[in-house]
Amino acid sequence: MKKHGFDTKALHGGQSDFQPDSMSVPIYQSVAYPYSDAKEAAAIFRAEKPGYTYGRWSNPTVEVFENRMAVLENTEAAIATSSGMAAIFMLAHHLLDQGDELTASNRVYGGTFALFDAGFKRMGAKVNWVTTPESLDAWSEAITPKTKFLFVESPSNPGLFIADIPALAALAKENNVPLIADNTICTPALQSPVDLGADIVVHSTTKYICGNASSMGGIICGSKELIDALRLGPMRYLGPSQAPFNAWLNLIGIEHLSLRMARHCENAISLANFLESHPLVESVNYPGLESNPYFDLGRKQMKGCSSLLSFVINGTSDDAVTVIDSLELLVHATHLGTCKTIVTHPASTTHSAMGPEEMAKAGIPPTLIRVSVGLEDPADIIGDIEQALERIT
Ligand SMILES: Cc1ncc(COP(=O)(O)O)c(C=O)c1O
Repeated sequence: MKKHGFDTKALHGGQSDFQPDSMSVPIYQSVAYPYSDAKEAAAIFRAEKPGYTYGRWSNPTVEVFENRMAVLENTEAAIATSSGMAAIFMLAHHLLDQGDELTASNRVYGGTFALFDAGFKRMGAKVNWVTTPESLDAWSEAITPKTKFLFVESPSNPGLFIADIPALAALAKENNVPLIADNTICTPALQSPVDLGADIVVHSTTKYICGNASSMGGIICGSKELIDALRLGPMRYLGPSQAPFNAWLNLIGIEHLSLRMARHCENAISLANFLESHPLVESVNYPGLESNPYFDLGRKQMKGCSSLLSFVINGTSDDAVTVIDSLELLVHATHLGTCKTIVTHPASTTHSAMGPEEMAKAGIPPTLIRVSVGLEDPADIIGDIEQALERIT
């Protein structure tokens, strides 16, 4: 499918001949796949013959989703997982031994921060945080002979930091380690980390890929060698496989991914412009704003800035909570990347495990409100936030 455009790939990519004729990919709600005889079973187990062995390693519905994501992310292969965190954990676990180190931007989702900081410390691996990730020198200084990979989330949740992916990819190459990019916020419809030089792409497919808050999921896209090793290794003994029904929901979501992302971007810039001119808003984090420090870099490497934005109110932490509690239409929930607009207070929820000091370093004050801008009429999104802001005047 290499020669086809993104939308064509999103509709047709990765479908194997295995599936019978059907417009919608069939849901193979089965964990086992009977063999014709013992010889065939042994050949499939030895990977000498294509086939399915057991639902923890592979499933025909999940396989279409994996292949489609590999096509869209321009990698040789992909492996789906039960959640975004399961993808990041399984990949990092595979790449790290006791005594190893990883280098990561501190502008990451709170769960990723906790995994690298506390989770891997318990397993004997160490994270070297880059607390000024806009500086390439800071990345260089955080790489040691024990570093096994660089990890970046761009754009980041919730501060919307944009990494210079080509520069980081070059640095990773110089140091003979892979660059892993979390592309959850942009999705392949807006950014191709591999085309920018990254080696491995991870996603929480729970977010924009699925698009309607109906299913947890994650994916790792990379070389066939890596994905085979993950399938035969940690997928086997850790077992974070994606459910066939969730993969099917993800496939449905992908069919209109780029249409959704285009509208998400339009609605987000409308809200960002409104917020930037509001007297009760101190600052707005959205790389699509010309005033944003990442505006030029974002334009170079993304087709659009997606719809996650955050803003700091001119007030107290209690005022931020008052704004959220005053919403009448928009949803107050711990999630992002759905058709419905979601508003969150990261300091007390998604990023609370970081603690005040780490949150301050990562640019997450208690007065920060995160908005995952949905697909409602933009005037209604703005209207609800406007009336909620009026409650603190
Ligand atoms: C950028 C990013 N990566 C990974 C994750 C983790 O994904 P999941 O919630 O599917 O485990 C999240 C969750 O919010 C996220 O925002």
